[in-house]
Amino acid sequence: METLVSQDVELAVALLRRGEVVALPTETVYGLAANALHEAAVEKIFALKNRPKADPLIVHVRDIEALEALEIEPPLWAERLMRLFWPGPLTILLPKGPKVPDVVTAGLPRVALRSPQHPLFQAVLEQVEFPIAAPSANPFGATSPTTPAHVLSYFSGQIPLILDGGPCSEGIESTIIGEEGGRFFLYRPGALPREAIEEALGAPLFSKTTAHSAGPVIAPGQYSRHYSPHKPLLYGWKRLPEEPRASLVYYAPEDFEEAHPHRHILTTTDNPKEAAQNLYAVLHACDKEPTDYILVQQVPLTGGLNEALHDRLRRANARALFTIGHSTHAWADFLALLKKYEISALIDIRKKPYSKHVPHFSQGILQKALHEANIAYDWQPNTKNLRQRVEKLLSEHLHVVLLCAEGEPHRCHRYQLSDELSREGLVIFHILPEGKLVLHRAPISLPLGESA
Ligand code: TXA
Ligand code: MG
Repeated sequence: METLVSQDVELAVALLRRGEVVALPTETVYGLAANALHEAAVEKIFALKNRPKADPLIVHVRDIEALEALEIEPPLWAERLMRLFWPGPLTILLPKGPKVPDVVTAGLPRVALRSPQHPLFQAVLEQVEFPIAAPSANPFGATSPTTPAHVLSYFSGQIPLILDGGPCSEGIESTIIGEEGGRFFLYRPGALPREAIEEALGAPLFSKTTAHSAGPVIAPGQYSRHYSPHKPLLYGWKRLPEEPRASLVYYAPEDFEEAHPHRHILTTTDNPKEAAQNLYAVLHACDKEPTDYILVQQVPLTGGLNEALHDRLRRANARALFTIGHSTHAWADFLALLKKYEISALIDIRKKPYSKHVPHFSQGILQKALHEANIAYDWQPNTKNLRQRVEKLLSEHLHVVLLCAEGEPHRCHRYQLSDELSREGLVIFHILPEGKLVLHRAPISLPLGESA
């Protein structure tokens, strides 16, 4: 199948009427669209995205009046928000009514409703006689698309049409809210800042964005790893280390140390709206660069749109672990490295936490220095218990490092363990003595810095 990229609204309408899936532009991100009342068409969306059937889809309508045909009557609070913010990036969960098929809501009692603002999507909705189900047009878990080229990179040859609406003006998905037991909840921060909604509601929005491990899907936060580029991404740096093998993403311009060929800035004017517009395009660009991984600076937690930016980056963040060896470092250099990589917890995995070659790395001295540097210390020579400790520390710290005794590479803990841990889904970064960060490529047991 050839994928046409065009502005042909009539063609999009004809394809949708035939139960086909097409990509449509919205003001937030591109969507993979189908007739929401046509079960087989909706099934195709799930198959294309490789999306779990338990993850429901947003239903897009022309306006509030279109809800009547779905036999959905919005309560007063919802109607008020719709009148204020539709068409626009606000999705509201309401009791589903009999018309919406279960496959769309994944069997849940509520349906997610939104009226998109993009003129081409609106032109389609004006002509079709049904609402349109559309998730973001990316494979499940991958970075959302904000241009036709992004959509092509995922679905070229698999869908007949991408309706070309240019780059998305908002660049980040809609905000999802709903009501439960008289309280209002924010299920996904998005392009409409929470503050605007709270003001309109005259009530606070409680955050319900993190997953509970048991129970049904209530909202998107259920899947914590999401919005991810192909390359490992490490988010949350106060100060980005200028690694040559990294794509660097700064929130705003900084005093850079040196020229770096793969540096990106989300906003040059300190404008959250501009940062949101750029976020996914920058992540797509990073994926294409000749680099091994992506480092992203912490977004200022100033509310507004930055709440959504922070949320997406947090979800794109890899589960990562660092390693460092004890032998080649002078003490001050070692501490400087921990500082550079913003390490806040160290797990000492040496069988013997001392060595006559590196007396200054004896446990007592080490512990004292780490304590002074405000870095948590843990001794875990038994690798059986290690995994559990790692999980615990990763839930409390952004950057955790394993301290290993260097030795012959094929005997070195640092590599054998790294192979094991990366097989279990952790991304491992080795901190080299000369102050570089190297991504571990499993399975290897090679000397430092050489990749298999
Ligand atoms: O901006 C947007 O909302 C874009 C554009 C295309 O409209 N759409 C979008 O869809 O982001 P998607 O599927 O990538 O994310 C929607 C999220 C899903 O993660 C899903 O879990 C949640 O909304 N959702 C959809 N229907 C729901 C429902 N009935 N109950 C709870 N959560 C729902
Ligand atoms: Mg999505």
